[in-house]
Amino acid sequence: MANQFQRFELERIMSEWEQVVEYNLSESGAHPLQLKELLAYDPSMLDQMLESELGYGYAEGSPELREAIAQYYPGATADNVLVTVGCIEANYLVYSTLLRPGDQVAIQVPNYLQGWGVANNLNADRRTFSLDPDRDWALNVDSLNEAVTDKTKLIAICNPNNPTGQILTDSEIDTIIAAADRSGAYLLADEIYAGAERGSEAVTPTIYGRYDKVLSAGSLSKAYGAPGLRIGWIVGPQDILKELWARHEYVTISTAKLSNHYLAPLVLRPDVRSALFERTRQYIRDGWTRFEPWIEEHKDILSLTPPKASAISFLRYNLKIDSVSLVERIIRDGSVLIGPGDYFGIPNHIRISYGLPHDYLMQGLGRISKVLRQVADEEGGVAAGA
Ligand SMILES: Cc1ncc(COP(=O)(O)O)c(C=O)c1O
Repeated sequence: MANQFQRFELERIMSEWEQVVEYNLSESGAHPLQLKELLAYDPSMLDQMLESELGYGYAEGSPELREAIAQYYPGATADNVLVTVGCIEANYLVYSTLLRPGDQVAIQVPNYLQGWGVANNLNADRRTFSLDPDRDWALNVDSLNEAVTDKTKLIAICNPNNPTGQILTDSEIDTIIAAADRSGAYLLADEIYAGAERGSEAVTPTIYGRYDKVLSAGSLSKAYGAPGLRIGWIVGPQDILKELWARHEYVTISTAKLSNHYLAPLVLRPDVRSALFERTRQYIRDGWTRFEPWIEEHKDILSLTPPKASAISFLRYNLKIDSVSLVERIIRDGSVLIGPGDYFGIPNHIRISYGLPHDYLMQGLGRISKVLRQVADEEGGVAAGA
């Protein structure tokens, strides 16, 4: 019997509230780039776009864009790249190409649970393996070895991780690759937060090239600060990319031509890419200087393993209320949107974005603070040790 359709709860709450609340602290990228900031890197591009015919662009991504993407993946050429409408399409194509009803998939948790829902809707057999909240989100190797069997078709990770902002160590990656290799599974690595590191200047290396069945997904939405261009990609073996492309034709045909032919290749030009990563990190690091003391002020309620990358933090809270009800309460009483931990697979947590302009961030946090204190009072105070 077919599974009941599972909707994507996180995106649903965001679509419902992000344009309504006064403070949106749910966005996982840094504050977005303005078009004029981007065009300043090549002022002649505006005229080229004004002359451009608004026809369809290259369905698989313009050759220039695919080459621009391939240069950041060791051993890849333009033929290993398919351009998609965001990383969300890239991930969707991987799941829907590789999984048939009953096929096993092993998904890292916590995670951006797109794959969890899509796999349900494909009637796949879903297993999870975890990052351990009590060991600073280190990989739980036992859970990996349990989740991956000789029938696993796909293993899915998000690195740097949404929602925790943690980065897998080299040996953890080797362990995951060894498990994939043993089962012959494809490894989907959603690497959308690479380039948004908080504590280091190094861009988190891609897993592409370390195992022959890696499918690496990325996009311009997070580290590059340009989600509105709606450009994502998948880099992988050519034979499987052809299969993905056949699905892409059903869903989107191609990305928007102005992004595909002009703006995205400009974003990916090496000097522009470095400047945009720097811009994103600046937001993240600046926001952190305000955010860290705020957490300290709430340490009776909140605790956090500091994120290594991304503009988001995944905080454990010491209240009895479940995370969805808490977030609904913060929306209703504070007009602030944040993400409930249950929508990332972990209860008693909330995801808060901090890569935002100071005033906006602090006002939003002030509202959250009030609601947390109110809830704690109603519950008769907080238990010791967040
Ligand atoms: C891990 C992860 N993958 C994919 C996406 C989708 O991003 P895009 O805007 O590139 O479609 C998101 C968005 O939040 C994300 O966090």
